[in-house]
Amino acid sequence: MRKKLIAGNWKMNGTVASVRELTKALSQHSHEYNHLEMVVFPSFVFLPQVIADLKSSPISVGAQTLSEYAQGAYTGEVEGSMLKDVGCSMVLVGHSERRTLFHESSDTVAKKFMCAQGAGLRPVLCVGETLVEREAGSMPSVVLGQLDAVIHLAGIDSFMNAVIAYEPVWAIGTGRTATPEQAQEVHALIRRHLAKLNPTVAAKCQILYGGSVKPDNAVHLFAKPDIDGALIGGASLKAVDFLGICGGAVSV
Ligand code: PGA
Repeated sequence: MRKKLIAGNWKMNGTVASVRELTKALSQHSHEYNHLEMVVFPSFVFLPQVIADLKSSPISVGAQTLSEYAQGAYTGEVEGSMLKDVGCSMVLVGHSERRTLFHESSDTVAKKFMCAQGAGLRPVLCVGETLVEREAGSMPSVVLGQLDAVIHLAGIDSFMNAVIAYEPVWAIGTGRTATPEQAQEVHALIRRHLAKLNPTVAAKCQILYGGSVKPDNAVHLFAKPDIDGALIGGASLKAVDFLGICGGAVSV
């Protein structure tokens, strides 16, 4: 029913040459994973290049963030309709690095989510708790609070055309992955929360896991019923690892 979605968040990495090499390697093998959805999120400056280089592959392209404002005098910002215009189909919103390092509040994230959908982009809403929050027992309130901020502004039906990524902050870039059981518990919590408001949305919405996903742990995560794919940082910068994770998603 729900297609697996494998997403690569390239963060602030790459050069024209290294990005070209990566997209070339990905596009050569991506046809082997036709029944998955695949997407990569390069830096803004590489978007036109990556979109052109992946044109004949099944891999979609998205941006890592977008402005909460409509076109105008906002130096340094990029609007959703610009991303759509150059050929993006998705966009990350509320990644923990944006929330923490760039002080994006849940209200700002909700506005960005709305802007993304308004521009015809499918948002990937990232949610997740810190280690301190988990150890204090507040994981459910943090994760569902981040989700509710968007539901309140955009409405539950907006999740018919959105993706959620559960990324525990303590697992991002640390090599420390949530166990498949820990991840499944949170994914089920999120899905039950959606189901209370709209069971159809809950059944359709893809919920990805993110945080130190690698080819060797991906299969165990994907075997869980509510884990519909992965949002991959570090391992998405190596074609062999990204494709290895795609292979894992095909095998379950
Ligand atoms: P990681 O990053 O795979 O390097 O832990 C995941 C993410 O930040 O999306």
